[in-house]
Amino acid sequence: MNNPVIPVLALDGPSGSGKGTIGQIVALKYGWHYLDSGAIYRGLAWLAHQKKVASDDVSGLVALADAMTLVCHVRENDVAQIEINGQIITDELRSDDAGQMASEIAPIAQVRAALLKMQRRCLKAPGLVADGRDMGTTVFPNAEYKVYLTASAEIRAKRRFDQLKSKGFDVNLARLLESIQARDVRDSSRAESPLKPAEDAIVLDTSELSIDEVVTRILNLID
Ligand code: DC
Repeated sequence: MNNPVIPVLALDGPSGSGKGTIGQIVALKYGWHYLDSGAIYRGLAWLAHQKKVASDDVSGLVALADAMTLVCHVRENDVAQIEINGQIITDELRSDDAGQMASEIAPIAQVRAALLKMQRRCLKAPGLVADGRDMGTTVFPNAEYKVYLTASAEIRAKRRFDQLKSKGFDVNLARLLESIQARDVRDSSRAESPLKPAEDAIVLDTSELSIDEVVTRILNLID
């Protein structure tokens, strides 16, 4: 369970709600660590693909998860740099394929249990911004600050489109929207840690808010 003396901001919400951008700004502001939990699921999916472990090979996935190390390097004005097993694989993880496979392995209870330990090990002084779908509900239920960011599927698809486009990926907005909607359904309806706000979370719809406005609301909450 998380240590109550180390502050945690649990930033939950679906893909494209702004968690990554907002979470990193807050982490930089306070000098806190940052955990991109989506990168853990994407990283495991990527590793499984590399090692030819199938997405339904539970013991193979758990063995990969148990041996996996992850470091999230916070960057200003960019997605966090992700280091898995000592290798920087940030851009590979952002692809829509990695996201899809992550969403397929994420409902497996044994996989989530293996990754839960790794996520709790990220809790270190002076504080942690934990970004993901189940940070406030499951991983850090005692987090001092809990915010659930959301936005319409159309806005989230457009944000992801712009992000991938700027990285040189060849993307199609309509297909991204479909994939986000399919992922929302899968993430919300699964039995293990479904996507939903913690009962004590503040819900912020970022569809009509600028990044600065969202950051200001969160800083006000913490200060
Ligand atoms: O936030 P993201 O798109 O990087 O997440 C990729 C997938 O990983 C998402 O479809 C579901 C899964 N995931 C999860 O189940 N729990 C988390 N805390 C983070 C991500």
